[in-house]
Amino acid sequence: MKLLVTDRQGEEHTVEATVGESLMLSLRTHDLVDATCSGSCSCATCHLFIGEAWVSDLPPPSDDEAEVIEFLKFAQEDSRLSCQLIVTEAMEGMKITVAPEEGF
Ligand code: FES
Repeated sequence: MKLLVTDRQGEEHTVEATVGESLMLSLRTHDLVDATCSGSCSCATCHLFIGEAWVSDLPPPSDDEAEVIEFLKFAQEDSRLSCQLIVTEAMEGMKITVAPEEGF
């Protein structure tokens, strides 16, 4: 299934994502996120903005994910960590934006 991803330079990419896998893995394959902690919910380099049209369709963040997001400089209402999201069929066509680097 395909996602539309806007990178940190504002360029849009169509990314093929694998249902059942972490969203971060598909983004990292395309060098769109660093994911330096490889999905352990600690580095926040996989931070995304989901967009209001889609964010409410996703399962809510865990306490751990919410806690990491809370301390991010660029956090928004639609912030999520892509390593904490599993790709589903319902995400077909979802538009997401890679958040700016936090600089830590
Ligand atoms: S990959 Fe580190 S928090 Fe998601």
